[in-house]
Amino acid sequence: VKLAPPDPIFGKIDAFARDRNPRKVNLGIGIYRDDDGKPYILPSIAKAEQRVVEKKLNKEYLPHTGCPNFTKLATELAFGEDNPILKNGRYATFQSISGTGALRLTGMFLKNFFPGHKEIYLPDPSWGNHENIFRNSGLKINSYKYFAPGCFTFNEEVVYDSINKIPEKSLLLFHACGHNPTGIDPSPEQWKELSKLVKRRKLLPVFDLVYMGFASGDIDRDAFGIRQFATDEHEFIVTQSFAKNMGLYGERVGAVTFITKTPDHTSQILSQVEGFVKGLYWSPPNHGIRIATEILSDKELCAEWRADVKKMTERLTTARHSLRQQLEKWGSSRDWKHITDHVGWFTYSGLNSLESEAFKKDPNPKKINLGAGTYRDDNGKPYVLPSILKAEQRITESRMDKEYAPISGYPEFTKHAIALALGDDNPVLSAGRNATVQSISGTGALRVAAAFLNSFFPGSREIYLPVPSWGNHVPIFKHAGLQINSYRYYDPKSCGLNFTAALEDIS
Ligand SMILES: Cc1ncc(COP(=O)(O)O)c(C=O)c1O
Repeated sequence: VKLAPPDPIFGKIDAFARDRNPRKVNLGIGIYRDDDGKPYILPSIAKAEQRVVEKKLNKEYLPHTGCPNFTKLATELAFGEDNPILKNGRYATFQSISGTGALRLTGMFLKNFFPGHKEIYLPDPSWGNHENIFRNSGLKINSYKYFAPGCFTFNEEVVYDSINKIPEKSLLLFHACGHNPTGIDPSPEQWKELSKLVKRRKLLPVFDLVYMGFASGDIDRDAFGIRQFATDEHEFIVTQSFAKNMGLYGERVGAVTFITKTPDHTSQILSQVEGFVKGLYWSPPNHGIRIATEILSDKELCAEWRADVKKMTERLTTARHSLRQQLEKWGSSRDWKHITDHVGWFTYSGLNSLESEAFKKDPNPKKINLGAGTYRDDNGKPYVLPSILKAEQRITESRMDKEYAPISGYPEFTKHAIALALGDDNPVLSAGRNATVQSISGTGALRVAAAFLNSFFPGSREIYLPVPSWGNHVPIFKHAGLQINSYRYYDPKSCGLNFTAALEDIS
């Protein structure tokens, strides 16, 4: 048995445990902590649990489908009590082992019974475990573009265009609210558009509903997307987790709801999923759903819980504002508006991998240089190489003139520069097969090269840049009149070169 590759999420948790910095922040796993970094139990949940304990209930098995009282309340919470799908019985809900279990039952069901392509399109990016869950269920994995690099809002053109290309009768996953990891959600109008698009493409959507309440602070508002799809009479699936909004992470409280066209299909679905449950764990856990049921069935306590969630969301919003303010106060020249625009527990920072590595390693919270790539000394001060200081000294002493340099630059300099790049004895140089021009540093060199290509390159006037690349490559080539395209370069999974993809794109 080979060692499995390290889990990227738990790897971060290990790194967090090893980090000696007293001000460390755990970005590895989605857990809400208090101001002292301690686990947080919602006051309403503590109250509900107390009541559950006092009832001294038995510990016998629940039905395979779960506690009927809980599944009914969970569905009512997701869709609203008076939603026609509930009245018409167009749904089948199972208790699940939190959100992950709900996704897994969904994957198994679709693998066995979905009549279309057994391939699910996940947003890119998505929660890291989605792929693992659906792959283990036997589905093929694909993706649609969810955001455009450098764009911090929901990019209609990119998302719609990408979904439009999904083959008909395929599966697709949406984050119902508080998208993990970007914090970018569609607006109500955009959900309506997505609903039309999904119908046109005949896709079957799965909604992962985990951060309900944390996007807007309001449980019902965060259900807009799924309720719109219900109104538009789709067939779809909702996986629901109470890990975050009830703080019941380890209690594994969740549900999965299948929305059908007619009530006739629900008992078939129930019977089939029941078979999976029996083969997996026989019967779902008891304690956590009793707490959730206590909350959802008592109007007063439920109002307290909704207020707790709102308060947590307000605290997250305050944290977003102070992070943005601090970055601005410390003189960052970037626009950090997106930190306060994004919703839920996540934000797409826009930092590239090198920047975020540097950010992680930097022990001094005030020493953040996320802007220009300059090498600084240990005190964050500009650094000049001693040899450069010496050369500068000599030039000053020799009192050189300040007249214009030749347009192609100083031959003495260009000769040395290219010899440094290619090596002194490179045959290109001895054969005189180079034309080297002095430039306004690297940017100027790129600009001159781009202008030259635009005027004289006999092929297509299109340049393919690696993804990701220095942010300024695009404007340089674009302003010089070239078209921009890209090839894949980086593999976020291995944090290294995606050689296969690069070769594939280049060929
Ligand atoms: C987007 C998303 N889906 C599903 C889950 C699953 O959570 P759980 O199984 O704890 O309910 C998580 C957990 O972080 C998540 O972020």
